[in-house]
Amino acid sequence: MANGGPTYILGISAFYHDSAACLLRDGEIVAAAQEERFTRKKGDASFPIQAARYCLEEGGIGPGELSFVGFYDKPLLKFERILETYLNVAPRGFSSFLQAGPLWIKDKLYIDRQIRDMLGYSGETLYSEHHESHAASAFFPSPFEDAAILTMDGVGEWATASFGVGRGSEIELYKELHWPDSLGLLYSAFTYYTGFKVNSGEYKVMGLAPYGEPKYVDAILEELVDLEEDGSFRLNQKYFNYLAGLTMTNGAFDRLFGGPPRVPETKLTQREMDLARSVQEVCEDIVMRMARTVHRETGLENLCLAGGVALNCVANGRLLREGPFKRLWIQPAAGDAGGALGVAQLIWHRHCGQPRKVTAGQDAMKGAYIGPQYPPETIGEFLDKEGAPYQRLERAELLERVAELLAEGKVVGWFNGRMEFGPRALGSRSILGDPRNPRMQAQMNLKIKFREGFRPFAPSVLRERVADYFELDGDSPYMLLVAPVKRGRQIPMTGDQKKLWGIDKLNVPRSDIPAVTHVDYSARIQTVTRSTNPDYYDLIEAFERLTGCPVLVNTSFNVRGEPIVCTPADAYQCFMRTQIDHLVLGPFLLDKTDQPEWKEAEDWRKEFVLD
Ligand SMILES: [Fe+2]
Repeated sequence: MANGGPTYILGISAFYHDSAACLLRDGEIVAAAQEERFTRKKGDASFPIQAARYCLEEGGIGPGELSFVGFYDKPLLKFERILETYLNVAPRGFSSFLQAGPLWIKDKLYIDRQIRDMLGYSGETLYSEHHESHAASAFFPSPFEDAAILTMDGVGEWATASFGVGRGSEIELYKELHWPDSLGLLYSAFTYYTGFKVNSGEYKVMGLAPYGEPKYVDAILEELVDLEEDGSFRLNQKYFNYLAGLTMTNGAFDRLFGGPPRVPETKLTQREMDLARSVQEVCEDIVMRMARTVHRETGLENLCLAGGVALNCVANGRLLREGPFKRLWIQPAAGDAGGALGVAQLIWHRHCGQPRKVTAGQDAMKGAYIGPQYPPETIGEFLDKEGAPYQRLERAELLERVAELLAEGKVVGWFNGRMEFGPRALGSRSILGDPRNPRMQAQMNLKIKFREGFRPFAPSVLRERVADYFELDGDSPYMLLVAPVKRGRQIPMTGDQKKLWGIDKLNVPRSDIPAVTHVDYSARIQTVTRSTNPDYYDLIEAFERLTGCPVLVNTSFNVRGEPIVCTPADAYQCFMRTQIDHLVLGPFLLDKTDQPEWKEAEDWRKEFVLD
């Protein structure tokens, strides 16, 4: 705004989990990235100094040119909640207060100073409320002129869910559900109890659910959750330990579900599968009730979602199929990272009073390709320095060659263009394979991702062909909707196959694209359009010309426990550590068999595998 130049706003989210920064120029998203990608610490919650510096660099500005910095929640409100919680449960909660307290005071009450000192910024810092940041990130970039907004997560300041309305350049939240009654924390309690990591293992619980029976739904609804018709609920704190302790569940929870939590990394049993299925059903039920209430109270036909629970793409798929909303848009960085984007947009529209331009049928996220990219010269220099043999190919030849390799059953690391913002890889930092190959699922899980084999991979499909392969005829650009594989493509199980236990079922081909078909025939779909990612689109099209199949397996470019790769060096390291056959880095194609021996301490894998 200074001197009549453009207005630059930097949004920051930090100190809870998944820190991020986002830069707007006159309201348009210039750049956004999560700190974990730079520091290589998964879910890094520290002040996002590297992400912020990257955003300024992408914008070609220094901190002095920022008009505003925004922080995605109000630290004092949050501190009040923490303090009150600990006082309420004292002396039971005192030990965890001692552990959590000093960090809160140090990091969260002095955010202003952090922003000044770390960034070298001397202007004004504005704060929005946590759920307002989520709501802003859900509505402002959406393709809707007006929409209902629903946010659901673990916890912000006091609110754990909220709803309201966005119209033009304004959002207003009407209702909130308050701590400690939280859908995110209910799901996280089961994530903890089934032996996965809270805040990142929720996806695994969702992936495990189709193997189970909803045996515990009644127990959950009778004992744990007092659920109202309108979707509001109370959690019976008798069974939880997150108010007082540093674990999610307690002895009463163990007694209700017949045993202690699964020890992480031990064998999964039918019990965890049944628990996963049960909490997933309850979660979907709550989301559906909330959505019906929001629909009834707002009378609107479009719905925007954000907050960590909006990453539950099974619930999202059901919401889209069963209504009551006609259209659904979900912020790809639905977790706290997206709050950085939300607060920046709130400042632009609410504080600066700027109007919002909506392009019909198109959101403002640029396909979520708003992170760093590396020019061919930089990549070439890196490869030469590394002594890594490569071929540099023209675009058409490269796409053709990669499509051939994929059709031959090779696994390809695909590093191209600007990194995605949000937890999913969408064809910029992806590992790709042939979905028709019945061995691809097991091969990619065990040899490349070093992880549990119970989850299928996600398909990327040409937008125009999605309805030929899936029971979905619409956009799912951010891999946030689950829908069944097209009925005609499903392969029913024989009587003997039905008797197979749990994970063995995944090895039975369930469709003509088995690597992306879950045991319940569902798939977590990404639709790819030419306008947002022409290279990825043309690659899939080249694969279709060779094979007739417009679908690729797309999994994030990382190994288990590691953030998605950011730089060419990260990608090369991941390529060399795993059994990925070929690597594409921009215009360069690398063959594993040509590479020099990879020398590295042997025990790196321990760090990642035993997370
Ligand atoms: Fe949140």
